[in-house]
Amino acid sequence: MKKVITYGTFDLLHKGHINIIKKAKELGDYLIVGVTSEDYDFNRGKLNVQQSLMERINNVKSLGIADEIIIEEYFGQKINDIKKYDIDIFAIGSDWLGKFDYLKEYCDVVYIERTKGISSTELRDKYNSIVKLGIVGYGRIANRMMSELPFISGVTPEAVFGRNEEKAELFANKHELNIYSSNYDDFLEAVDAIYIATPHKSHFEYAKQAILKKKHVLCEKPMTLSVSETKYLFELAHKNNVVLQEAIKTAYAPAFIKLVNIAKSGIIGQIKNVNATFTKLIEDKTLREYNHQMGGGSITELISYPLCAIVKLLGLNYNDVMINSIIDDKTNVDILSTINIIYENAIATANVGIGVKTESDLRIGGTKGYIYVPAPWWKTEYFEIRAEDPNKIQKFFTKYDGEGLRYEISDFINTINNHKACSYKLKDEESIFFAEIIEKAMLSLY
Ligand code: CTP
Repeated sequence: MKKVITYGTFDLLHKGHINIIKKAKELGDYLIVGVTSEDYDFNRGKLNVQQSLMERINNVKSLGIADEIIIEEYFGQKINDIKKYDIDIFAIGSDWLGKFDYLKEYCDVVYIERTKGISSTELRDKYNSIVKLGIVGYGRIANRMMSELPFISGVTPEAVFGRNEEKAELFANKHELNIYSSNYDDFLEAVDAIYIATPHKSHFEYAKQAILKKKHVLCEKPMTLSVSETKYLFELAHKNNVVLQEAIKTAYAPAFIKLVNIAKSGIIGQIKNVNATFTKLIEDKTLREYNHQMGGGSITELISYPLCAIVKLLGLNYNDVMINSIIDDKTNVDILSTINIIYENAIATANVGIGVKTESDLRIGGTKGYIYVPAPWWKTEYFEIRAEDPNKIQKFFTKYDGEGLRYEISDFINTINNHKACSYKLKDEESIFFAEIIEKAMLSLY
């Protein structure tokens, strides 16, 4: 019996996919189709796959051509599959010509003529019109976002808004944007969605006005500094049928999501302690981060990341919060803060500092072991599961590409395209939890 194998994402199954599966089957007697897992696609940079793994598998299955369907989960798996399933022929579309010649050592490699004029990418673009994105602000984070956008399909940066029109023009020229404006209404007219990258205290007004004009909003962290404002924005967004998401990149990063799932699976027993530290020395005291009036300080600047880890691991329902800070006498902002959040059966500590540097790691303590994530854990790539016996260490690595903002923007665009009210990766109530802790901290400090 001649066994054939072929692989693909098979997103939004189309004629090209059907042709290749048919032709692959004709090459032998038994066909195995490998469908890529979400994790694998994400890691190889295919961020905009629209259908879930199960939907894609069911679509391939419904053709009734494949004798067996398997899941492709990692680079290099093809060699193993060919050996494991005794494969005679590896078949793939001609767009991959030459790329799989290394498999000739294990079986025959056949490149099948690709069907012209159709692809999942084209279909995704046809079904979902390209989201025109406007950038509010032209500072450091806005520039960083611009460098990440080219990695995401389905979105095009269209316009920039800033109070200083000259600076907005410079930004627009630098990033080849069609429109720049210092008039917020005009700017909103030109876009479908906005990314707010301005100082914290301006987020609320910019977000509110955009939502009222039915624009989707991705807002830099912290979304606002108060519970009432954050709640108000979410209610307004739901009423206006637009997506509102907080841009905490860690929440959308593949390795962080994996880390949380593993931690919650019971592998370290019950989670009793989360200790998350994020320090980032900022020495220039003329910057916004040291400006009390503009909402500067370690908590407002950095606490979203540790709180994100804490809420994902221990949940929303805590009993008490204790806040301790060192305030700089010249600028009146907290240069170091520790927030202890006491849960019924667990204790969490978040340490943040813009004026004090210390090891910035994440430790998750359980009744059977602990998880160690080295700095910079908020750009999670690597973590270890450790136990009492120092020889028993399990190591995990998942790629984190570029600045990592591509994951949050990709999720934002997918949430818009799938007509969902919010993303499961960062929920409304979690953003409200962050606002609540920040508000309590601000009240206790100032
Ligand atoms: N394929 C094909 N003809 C097409 C599109 C895809 O023969 N018009 C083949 C690919 O060469 C591959 C298989 O179908 O062997 C699965 O490809 P996949 O990457 O899932 O499909 P694309 O439509 O190319 O997806 P995308 O646009 O996301 O790259």
